[in-house]
Amino acid sequence: MNRQATLFTILEPINLEKRVQGGEATTDVILSAAVGGNAEMFAEVAELHLPIGGHVADVTYGKGVFWQNIPKGHYSLQFSDIDAKVARDFNHDVAVRNNIDCRQLPFENSWLDGLVLDPPYMEGLFRRDTEHLAGSGTHSAFRDSYSSGQATPALEGEPKWHDAVTDLYIKAGREAYRVLKPGGVLITKCQDEVSANQQRLTHVEIISAYESLGFYTKDLFVLVRPNRPGISRLKTQIHARKNHSHFLVFQKIKHKISNIIHLEPSPLAIMESSSTNKSLLKIPLAGFVTLTNEAIKPAC
Ligand SMILES: C[S@@+](CC[C@H](N)C(=O)[O-])C[C@H]1O[C@@H](n2cnc3c(N)ncnc32)[C@H](O)[C@@H]1O
Repeated sequence: MNRQATLFTILEPINLEKRVQGGEATTDVILSAAVGGNAEMFAEVAELHLPIGGHVADVTYGKGVFWQNIPKGHYSLQFSDIDAKVARDFNHDVAVRNNIDCRQLPFENSWLDGLVLDPPYMEGLFRRDTEHLAGSGTHSAFRDSYSSGQATPALEGEPKWHDAVTDLYIKAGREAYRVLKPGGVLITKCQDEVSANQQRLTHVEIISAYESLGFYTKDLFVLVRPNRPGISRLKTQIHARKNHSHFLVFQKIKHKISNIIHLEPSPLAIMESSSTNKSLLKIPLAGFVTLTNEAIKPAC
């Protein structure tokens, strides 16, 4: 079965009504969820979505785990990081460029076929001083691998905590849109988190932000970690402990559909928020509206 992405020729809007007949019955397919590691899952994501022979940049290279299972010679590769951990990827014989910010890339407009983005995904890696960065003491290897290891200075008006995570994804996504060719693919990795006791669905934030930039959300993969994560100093558990992350695949292509649904808050939500908590109005849809296939209906 042929499932390797080919260099993009699609410049027309996607026609969702076209169906291809024929093909073979098989279970030998790439699945949307797996238990395992980044190297294994990234190899499958790349096989399906990165065109052989294409120009592909990994702009948050880290230690290059993503590339461990990618055969040499498949892509014309560019590796960079704001704080490179290694100088070279010896498997692919490619230098890792240091001090390159994924929000301001040294590429011309519309040059790349693929871009890989995996910035620090935890608010704990965006603290104002290094003492409070996540991954101190025995976890310093984690911090070294997953962040620049630098504090994020508190600038007036700049986003903080989890909003700083989202902000980096948004700015890097905007830059990715600039440097990708029409039809080009952005693969990004993220993990949802509970920040300041609030559930923050990073993958939803990214999908809505990137779709508003003009990307089509082409695919979504769920990676479940093989080991069981613990919680230090648990008093009462409020949220499920995350043991999964996402690979999201976006394409710079004209498309007509969107996963973003904007609605007015339901009348019930407005009534309840005016009689109880005014801040509820800031969270439209919070538990008051359900969606069905045919229509959007208020919840009973
Ligand atoms: C989660 S790690 C990437 C791991 C990588 N995918 C791998 O396979 O090893 C995040 C990386 O993003 C880098 N980083 C943080 N902020 C950055 C920025 N503004 N521009 C480029 N790289 C950045 C960090 O230095 C770190 O190496």
